[in-house]
Amino acid sequence: MPRFLTGVPVLRCSLEIGMEWMILMSGGMDLMNDKYRIIGPLYDIVARIYSAGRIDKCKTAMHDHIKPDDYVLFAGVGQGTDAVAAAERGARVTVVDLSDSMLDIFAGRISGRHFLHPVETVHTDILKYEEYGKFDMVYANFFLNVFTRPMVLAVIEHLAKLAKPGGYVVIGDFALPSGGAVARAFQSLYWYIADIFFVFAARNAFHPVYDYQTMLKGHGSQIEKVRCFRFLFDDRFCSILARKG
Ligand SMILES: C[S@@+](CC[C@H](N)C(=O)[O-])C[C@H]1O[C@@H](n2cnc3c(N)ncnc32)[C@H](O)[C@@H]1O
Repeated sequence: MPRFLTGVPVLRCSLEIGMEWMILMSGGMDLMNDKYRIIGPLYDIVARIYSAGRIDKCKTAMHDHIKPDDYVLFAGVGQGTDAVAAAERGARVTVVDLSDSMLDIFAGRISGRHFLHPVETVHTDILKYEEYGKFDMVYANFFLNVFTRPMVLAVIEHLAKLAKPGGYVVIGDFALPSGGAVARAFQSLYWYIADIFFVFAARNAFHPVYDYQTMLKGHGSQIEKVRCFRFLFDDRFCSILARKG
C-alpha cells in the first residue's frame, strides 16, 4: 500500500468516533434531521464538477430497461434528475427521501411538468416505506454510500423486498477499486475525498468503497448488467442492474 494511505485506518477510526460524538451531542439518532439542508442545493453541481458529468450518466445508465407504466422507485432521490428522466419515459415514479430541502428542490424540478403518470413524493426514512413487492425497478443512486456497512446491508435487503418478484434493484455508485496497486489507491483516494467532504457536510458514514455486487449476490439477487464510467484513466462510477432472486 502506498505510504500516503497508511494513515487511513487511523483517520477513519478518529472520524467515526468524532461523528458519533457529534450525532449524540446533536440530539441522538433522530433520522428526521435534515442533514442535506445546507449541502442539498449544491449537491448536483458539486457532483457534476467532481465527476465531469459521469455521475449524471451513471444515474440513468439503466433507464433503457424502464418501460411505460412500470412502477419505479427512487430511494434517497435527492434532486432527482434520474427520477424525472424515468417519468419522461412514462413510468409510474415514486420518490422517497428523508430531507425536506432535497424534496423541495425536486418539487421545483417537476413543477409545471406533465408526465404520463404524476410523480408520487414520499417524505420518510426508506426503512419505514413498506410497499413491498410493488416495484418493477428500485433505484439506489449514490444513496447507499451515506450509510455504515450494517445499515447498507439492511437497506439493500429492504430495497429488494420493495421490488416485485423478478423485478430489478439498480445501484449506481463509486466503482470498487480494481486493477494494480496504483489504480486501486487512486480510486480509494478519489472516493475518500468525496466521502470526507460529505462526512462533514451531511454526516455521511466514513468507510471504504462498498462492494455492492457482492452485497446484492448475498441477498440472492443476480447481477444482469454493469455499466461503468471512466474518468481520469479508469472506471470511477458503475451502475449495477440486479434481478431480485
Ligand atoms: C448522497 S444523496 C444522493 C441523492 C441522489 N440519489 C443523487 O444521486 O443525486 C443521498 C440522499 O439520500 C437521502 N437519505 C439519506 N438517508 C435516508 C433515509 N434513511 N431514507 C431516505 N432518504 C435518505 C438524503 O436526504 C439525500 O437526499
